[in-house]
Amino acid sequence: MIEIGMLTGGGDCPGLNPVIRAVVKASVREDWRVLGFRNGWKGLVDDEFIILDDKSVSGILPKGGTILGTSRTNPYKKAGDVEKVKSNFHQHNLKALIVVGGEDTLGVANHLFQEGLPVVGIPKTIDNDLSATDYTFGFDTAVNIAMECIDRLHTTAESHNRVMVVEIMGRHAGWIALEAGLAGGADVILVPEFPMTIDEICEVIKSRHKRGKTFSIVAVAEGAKLKGGEEVADQKLDQFGHVRLGGIGQIVGEMIEKKTGYETRVTVLGHIQRGGSPTAFDRVLGTRFGVKAVELVKRGKFGRMASLQGRQIVDAPLSDAVKQLKLVTSDLYEMAKIFFG
Ligand code: F6P
Repeated sequence: MIEIGMLTGGGDCPGLNPVIRAVVKASVREDWRVLGFRNGWKGLVDDEFIILDDKSVSGILPKGGTILGTSRTNPYKKAGDVEKVKSNFHQHNLKALIVVGGEDTLGVANHLFQEGLPVVGIPKTIDNDLSATDYTFGFDTAVNIAMECIDRLHTTAESHNRVMVVEIMGRHAGWIALEAGLAGGADVILVPEFPMTIDEICEVIKSRHKRGKTFSIVAVAEGAKLKGGEEVADQKLDQFGHVRLGGIGQIVGEMIEKKTGYETRVTVLGHIQRGGSPTAFDRVLGTRFGVKAVELVKRGKFGRMASLQGRQIVDAPLSDAVKQLKLVTSDLYEMAKIFFG
């Protein structure tokens, strides 16, 4: 019987379970068996896996997280781990490995492909910062959660005449803050790609209050910095060399209160944005990606990734996906600025 492997790596994200379900169901139709490696690349290093069949994916479609578990393990970080990945892959005589992840996990997949492993990728991240696909699954859910939070902050901001600063996930790219801010009617949106000075932010708020508004909402991406300032993070690095971000919302909130005199509160959405049930969009996108990945394996199209281009699911080189991050464009940010204040 033909066997394929799959794993989910990096930060979890709503839509992973629909992907797993789709890969398994499409594989079962081919009479293939799927080995699901546990906790990202760690599972392939340690040869920890479960057999995924129709029964194991029953009922997982609406569930957040990943039944396989995930981690930020990087096998290229520890001597000997890449060899373990390869020998475990060959020992099971796998036809292919389907890797579900963002820039880090797919970066490893791309390296392994270049070293001869038959790998197919599926793009995942709430940040939506992966190139070679219009959208990653997980993003839509995160945007909807953040939008709902902004809606909720609006009513309490209005009741108390306060400025509400909301810190939103997005490591290097401000997509979630931008789209949730637009959808939720934020009065200022601060993203990593287009830093503002604190005076510019306060000007927008003050001019709004001069027009008779008594409250404001400021959406801040966690990776944003003030013009001339630094990213706010602790210095703990993960295995891919990323710092842990967080704290820019608090800094901006304190500065706004000091400079404007308006009472200000700060909310950090954090992992709320990654938890819970995926939206219909993410369930369908994840499902389509999963089916596409199995098709790519069947056709022997390795080193490729399932990708959304417009409304079509196509495939793109893994190397294109991880070449550079997809950042918020200036035309989109300029459009968003029409609604500032
Ligand atoms: O990459 C997705 C993401 O949620 C980022 O938005 C965030 O900076 C990071 O992961 C948080 O990582 P962790 O779950 O390891 O704290």
